Parts: sequence; C-alpha cells; structure tokens
Amino acid sequence: MCGIIGYIGSRDATPILLESLKKLEYRGYDSSGVAVLDHHPHLIVRKSKGKIKNLEELLCTKPVPFSNLGVSHTRWATHGLPCDENAHPHTDNAHRIAVVHNGIIENYAQLKEKLKRQDCHFVSQTDTEVIAHLISVLYKGDLKTAVYKAIAQLKGAFAIGVISKDHPDLLVAARVGSPLIIGLGDKENYIASDVPAILDRTRRVIYLKDGQVAFLSKDKVEVFTFEGKKVTPKIDTVSFSIGSAQKDGYDHFMLKEIHEQPQVLSAMLKYRLPKGKLKLEGLTVSDEILNSIKKITIVACGTAYHAGLVGKYIIEDMARLMTEVDTSSEFRYRKPIVDKNTLIIAVSQSGETADTLAAVREAKAQGAKVVSICNVIGSSLARESDGVLYTHAGPEIGVASTKAYTAQLMMFYLLGLKLAHTRHAVTPARLKRLVKDLQNIPYLYKGLLKKRSMILKIAEANSHFGCFLYLGRNINYPTALEGALKLKEISYIPAEGYAAGEMKHGPIALIDEYRAVVCVALQSHVYEKMISNIQEIRARKGNVIAIATEGDKEIAHHAHYVIDIPAVEELLTPLLAIIPLQLIAYYIAVKRGNDVDQPRNLAKSVTVE
Ligand code: G6P
Repeated sequence: MCGIIGYIGSRDATPILLESLKKLEYRGYDSSGVAVLDHHPHLIVRKSKGKIKNLEELLCTKPVPFSNLGVSHTRWATHGLPCDENAHPHTDNAHRIAVVHNGIIENYAQLKEKLKRQDCHFVSQTDTEVIAHLISVLYKGDLKTAVYKAIAQLKGAFAIGVISKDHPDLLVAARVGSPLIIGLGDKENYIASDVPAILDRTRRVIYLKDGQVAFLSKDKVEVFTFEGKKVTPKIDTVSFSIGSAQKDGYDHFMLKEIHEQPQVLSAMLKYRLPKGKLKLEGLTVSDEILNSIKKITIVACGTAYHAGLVGKYIIEDMARLMTEVDTSSEFRYRKPIVDKNTLIIAVSQSGETADTLAAVREAKAQGAKVVSICNVIGSSLARESDGVLYTHAGPEIGVASTKAYTAQLMMFYLLGLKLAHTRHAVTPARLKRLVKDLQNIPYLYKGLLKKRSMILKIAEANSHFGCFLYLGRNINYPTALEGALKLKEISYIPAEGYAAGEMKHGPIALIDEYRAVVCVALQSHVYEKMISNIQEIRARKGNVIAIATEGDKEIAHHAHYVIDIPAVEELLTPLLAIIPLQLIAYYIAVKRGNDVDQPRNLAKSVTVE
C-alpha cells in the first residue's frame, strides 16, 4: 500500500515532494522517504521510520541538495517491519536506481532468489527492493528499456516511480492494479498516487491506465503500453477543490468529525431533498432499470461495509427488493451470481480501496450496473462506476471513520426513498413521513452531542475493561458491529460486535465481571428480546452500558449505565445510535493515551488487497 509522489522540473524537488506526501499520509504512515539527485549526479536518499514529520526532522539535520528530480513515499508495511531499511525509496547496490512502489509484487520471492544468484545484495525485507535490483541488472545504459524489461517480469499489483543518477532528465512511472496519475505543470511534471496530492500545483492530469508506462521530463510526458505502443493519453482538467482540513480547536480530527455530523447531514438533505423533493444527481441509472432489477448487491470494506449492512435493512424495508451485502474481498473471489438484473452498490469513503475496486471490476465484467456511494470526488471508484452518489461529507482525516459513515447511511435512506417511490413499494403517506423524519435528524444530533460530558464519564469509568462486547438486533445489529470496530481501531481493546440473538451461541462464554457489554436496546419490536439478553449478561456479572430511547424508564433497572437517544422511527435509529458509540470509543482511546487520528497499523485507505 502506500503513497507515492515524483517531481521533475526546474524548482527544488524536496519541499514540493514533502508537501504532496503529507496529502498522501492517509495511505499509510509507518515510514517515509525521499530520493533526489545532486549535481555530480549522485542519488541522495533519506528515510525515516514513523510519520512524515520524522522525515522532515531528518531532513533538517541531514539536508539534501537542491534537485530538479525526485521521488518520495509514505509506507504502510506489507512485507517487512516498519523501519528505516524497509522504508522507500529502495535502490540497487550501485546506488544508480531508486524506486518507490505502491502495491504488492507477488513473485518477489522467486525474483529475489534469482537476483541473489546474480550477486545482488538485499538490505530490506520488502518486495519493492527486487524492482530496483531487477532494473539494475537489466540496465545497459538505457533506463527506459531496463524498466520495460523489468515490469514484464513482475506479477501482482504495482504503481512505481523510478529515477536514475544516469538520467537526470527522466522520471519513469508504470502501473498495474494500483492507482497512479500524472500531473502536467508549466515546465514541470508530477506523478502521484492520487489527485489531491498535486491539486494545489496543477489541475491538468492524466489517469495512467493499467499496463501503461510513462516517461516524464520537465517539458514532455510520453505514455506507452507495456508492449511499447505509443498512446495519446486523455488529459483531464480537474474541476473540484479539496477543502483543507483543520482541527478548529478540537483535540483530534476524529472529535471534530464526530461534531461535524449534523452539518454534513443537514447539507446533504438541503442538496438532495430540497423542499422534500428527492434529487439523486449522479445516480444515472434510469427508473426503467431500477424497476427491472431483481437484486441489489452491496460491496464495501470496513466501516463502509457496516453502512452497507444497514443499507440492506433500509432497502429491503422501504423498497422490498432483495439485497445482499458482501465484503469486497470476499465478493471478488467467491464466484458471485451477478447479471444485468443485479445493481451493484459499492460504498467507499476514499474510493481507492483496492478490494472494492476489484469487486466492481468483477461485477462490471459480468454485466452488472454499478452505482457507488463515495466521498472523495474524482476517486478511482467514482470514475469506474456507472453512477456515483457523492456524500459530500468533506475531507475525513481521522482514520476511524465517523462522518463518512453517517453520510453513507443517509445516502442509503435517500436511495431507499428513490427505490420505494419508483417501485411503488410504500404508500405516499409513509414516504412523506420518512422525508419529514429524515429532515429532523440533524436537529436531533445537536441535542445528542450535548450529552458528550456524560458519555465521557461513562467511557472513562469503563476504560479499564480488557474486552468489550457490542450487541444489537435487527437494523442495529450493524450498529453493534460498527461500535465494536470503532473501539478496537483506536483503543486496541478486543471488541466483538454480535447479533444479540447469537450471544448464547458462543460469546456468552466471554461474560464475567471483567467484561463490558454495550447493548443497543432501543424501543422497537425487538426491545423485549434485548432486555432478556441484558438479563442474561447481568446473571453472569457482565457490566452493561445500554443505548436506550429517551423516556424509557424501565431500562435503568437492567443496565449499569444508560445513554439515551431521541425517539425516532425504528428504521432511522442507526443514524442516532452510532453517535454515543463513536464517542465512547473516542474517549476510551484518549484516556488510554493513544494516537486517535492515526492509530497503529491502520491506514485511512487500503490500496492493497
Ligand atoms: C480502512 C479504514 C476504514 C475504512 C475502510 C474502507 O480500513 O481504516 O476506516 O472503513 O478502509 O475504506 P473506504 O475508503 O473504502 O470506505
């Protein structure tokens, strides 16, 4: 995984590379590095374990010379521990070639053995280092030919940037499976893993395609297929802007993003439901197709997958249309049954998640239409989908997703309204009521967020527990999954989300006085069942934190702690029930002194499978 950036031009490469690299930190942050040429020319490489600020500090103590050419990288470890040696760029033994790489070279072990027999000495455990050595052994004075020959031997996914001390006027890029774009500047050019990384420098971009290689100088960009056929690439002018994200006085981006949820949903409703009239711009799928589809399959990963699970309940309830949900990584390998009567909904905050992109390609190859629910404008997923419903939640910086999740939920409600209306699945009166209730949600959020000091106290009182269980039923079963995910992502406490009815089939064995159990026990047709589950937990001395409905007098007799949320129709409760769970996870992580916005081992966007 990782983010890569390269520069060739007349200005000093290093500050430009570092600025852009920071915008790629969402792709990984366990180490970073930069390689530039000095005037001899020699390759100068600096690498540092940890966040990009460590690399910046290193560059202050060990500066690099002014250079017109350079590549840089921020890493999320796949092969080899996060450490200085495994950080990119990687070089060959002659220190002639430097490579940055995003992806996984699947045949690296075989290549490594072969290269070792050719006297290549490896200094890292990475798959990437083989690329540098391979290009080096194939190099006979022409970098372009050596790269062609090397990529022909690579299996797996890769986006690479290559420079050589022998070619101070050449930056080489190639891709298969991992994203790479080229930014066209004025007498300078860039390569980058995504558009936002270079957006404040240029708006003219080429989206390199799989199986293409590009040769960049400061005045020229040439693109070829791996077979050497010249192509005329399409140059896109990017029209969107990336709002810069600031903490605005909050201690962490995550806390700020939790508090942004009322504005995000209110803006969405204003744009998508003006005067109560639905406007699903970007959907592009005709009413005729929406009427004829027999099944919806939702694919997504992580938090977006949980939004998809809620989406299933929403669509099946509102539109009475069979809906299945799959994690993208399972869908792509399980021989899914998909045809032209299936609508695929791909959900992704970043739109760059490798497994979701692969699932979409698989579905499209089988003839299905794909609509994505996506936050990042112009992302790979948005470009590859037939239709895209942007959530417009703004940049989400905290690795643990919060506002993107509730925006995805809201989009499912809007899509549910559309399908219900088109397929005549609900009465106009219910539609009208749902619209009204949805419009009220942002106001309810404001009141709910005011309970944060009470939630802080509950979180702190429970932060010592070494294991948490999250239970929910029906449409709040996914809420339980998402609550548990939030906690484990940022507090590192083992947390399991379960359908409450399944508790007695295993998880109940975990329960004793050392466990905390968060129960989503709202007034609904499964309320009594949840109360019975809570009793079963209490009988085994478990500590219960209940998420209940305002006005519920009974629940206090059953739970140790109660956090109540406003009463709304059961179908809409996931929008509200998740807020206390986000805050519980946040406050416990803070109490434990963790890096909330950039938790260990995670990345905001997972661009490898
Ligand atoms: C990573 C992030 C999660 C996110 C998941 C899917 O695991 O840490 O927060 O939910 O990827 O990302 P996507 O961008 O596709 O929504």
